[in-house]
Amino acid sequence: MANIKYTVPGMSDADSERVIALLQDRLHAANDLHLTLKHVHWNVVGPHFIAVHEMIDPQVEAVRGFADEIAERIATMGGSPKGTPGSIVENRTWEEYSLGRGTTQEHLGALDLVYQGVISSYRDGIKELGELDPITEDMFIGQTDKLELFHWFIRAHLEDKGGNLSTEGATSEKDAAQSAG
Ligand SMILES: [Fe+2]
Repeated sequence: MANIKYTVPGMSDADSERVIALLQDRLHAANDLHLTLKHVHWNVVGPHFIAVHEMIDPQVEAVRGFADEIAERIATMGGSPKGTPGSIVENRTWEEYSLGRGTTQEHLGALDLVYQGVISSYRDGIKELGELDPITEDMFIGQTDKLELFHWFIRAHLEDKGGNLSTEGATSEKDAAQSAG
């Protein structure tokens, strides 16, 4: 990363550069997630289409808002946020979403895994930020709170009345989709 020329008062450049790297990783995750959620919004089929189709749009809007908040924090700290599609694909550490047209249950099963990945990485970031920057930590905590809520909206469709998830133990999106469908 290019060295920053200034940062927020009271932080060292080295600490800020690490925080910017954590923010940039979450910017890629948020941009990838809101695009993936729209893809699901367009590709779900089946008898519960309208419920799932309409449930997803507020998640898209919220996650787009997270991306904006993260990117502006990067700039505030003296960094340059990377938001181009090529940059997401080049730098992400996860695979492209793997389902095309699919039933609502299949997509919800796959999204359970998507949210597991995104939220776990936010939590890793929060652990590290506790030492580095409570302001960015607070942003991550606020976003994780909403992501966990959205994850529950997904999981409530995959849960039986005994509280068991149909996707339990699934290790890939395709696997989760099959278990849920
Ligand atoms: Fe739409």
